[in-house]
Amino acid sequence: MAADALQLSSAYPLGSRLTGDGRLEIGGCDALELAREFGTPALIVAEDDIRTRVRAFKEAFAARTESFEVHFAAKAFACTPVLGLMAEEGLACDVAGGGELHMALRAGFDPGRIHLHGNAKSRRELQEAHDAGVGHVVLDNDRDIDRLEEIVAPGEHQPVQMRIAPGVSPDTHPSISTGGPNTKFGFNLDAAPPAIERVKASLRLELEGLHMHIGSQITDLAPFRPAIAALADLGDFRMFNLGGGLGVAYTEFDTPPSIDEYVAFKVDAVEQLAGPGRRILDEPGRALVANSTVTLYTVESVKRNVMTYVAVDGGMSDNLRPMLYGARYEAQVVGRPGGGTRCHLVGKHCESGDVLIHDADLCDPRPGDVIVTPATGAYGYSMANTYNGVPRAPVVFVRDGDARLVVRRESYDDLTARDV
Ligand code: LLP
Repeated sequence: MAADALQLSSAYPLGSRLTGDGRLEIGGCDALELAREFGTPALIVAEDDIRTRVRAFKEAFAARTESFEVHFAAKAFACTPVLGLMAEEGLACDVAGGGELHMALRAGFDPGRIHLHGNAKSRRELQEAHDAGVGHVVLDNDRDIDRLEEIVAPGEHQPVQMRIAPGVSPDTHPSISTGGPNTKFGFNLDAAPPAIERVKASLRLELEGLHMHIGSQITDLAPFRPAIAALADLGDFRMFNLGGGLGVAYTEFDTPPSIDEYVAFKVDAVEQLAGPGRRILDEPGRALVANSTVTLYTVESVKRNVMTYVAVDGGMSDNLRPMLYGARYEAQVVGRPGGGTRCHLVGKHCESGDVLIHDADLCDPRPGDVIVTPATGAYGYSMANTYNGVPRAPVVFVRDGDARLVVRRESYDDLTARDV
């Protein structure tokens, strides 16, 4: 085996390694043994990877500013044990609705450190969030203001932020670009000033700052600057919530900015454009969890057509990202790293579009092989589905050579459990 085939790309969890004889270890556990013990497909999460990235975020902020808070964007890996780990590491949390609020509370977050988002919050979700005592409701539209004013009792207060669409579009897939001049999220720059005045005048809502989230999987930081400038122009606010967005490496060819570079860029921009001493909130999702996780699959068939099709026991039910955003992943045969066979790595679902990796390069893939795809921690579990009645995959935490199941595999009975 060539020496370079023994290198793992930066898409793998920190601490992963290939041994001299080609075995793959994640969190000190042998990947083939994990596949045997927990079955496939399975999501293997290296706990230390997440903890290291959380600490890197906190340290990067602490080195530059006194007043900050890092929120985990729950949607990136909306799974109670992962949320529990984030709470244990001292993060705050933002939730996209009542369901994530329920999970965040169940995971042990202090309600005061949970923040409710959503461009179409129901009255019930607003009520639940207020009753739970969430730290902030992030107002997205006029109806949020109307409803929250009805919900908050006279004499009571609900701290709020206002989401602003700063009219800036970063270089990312259009489906995950959220701050441009024509978006469904937040108040645009024309609507913002009167809405801000209205909330400032409210006796029940307490406006603490402005929020933006311009998009996700952002690898060029430059657009954050005009976006922050647009918020700073809207008034003298004590607090700015800058959303998430830091991109990650999905393959060996991706070189996103580091956590430190991202934090430095944002903090500097706030200081320069809004002035010193502002409280800065940030909401990373992907950058905290994407690279912590690998998915293990088993090859069910290998078919030689014009192209070679290597079909595994999962696919668009556990990872929709290639289908939704043309997202590129890498893969290898566990125990047989390297390439040699050009093929499409496809799923088991009844659509031709169910392709995990076009033009993958695998080493002589055969039925029964275990395949690993790294960097599946963000938005894979959260967007998982049961298409074709495929039960959703389990989540396994690995650390220091120990593996523990934290979410079991869905069963066939689960698939019919809601029938009445
Ligand atoms: N804050 C807000 C208000 C958000 O809407 C999001 C993500 C984040 C923070 C976290 O962004 P991140 O740091 O993860 O980029 N399903 C898509 C991603 C959708 C992102 C939605 N909002 C994907 O798989 O790429």
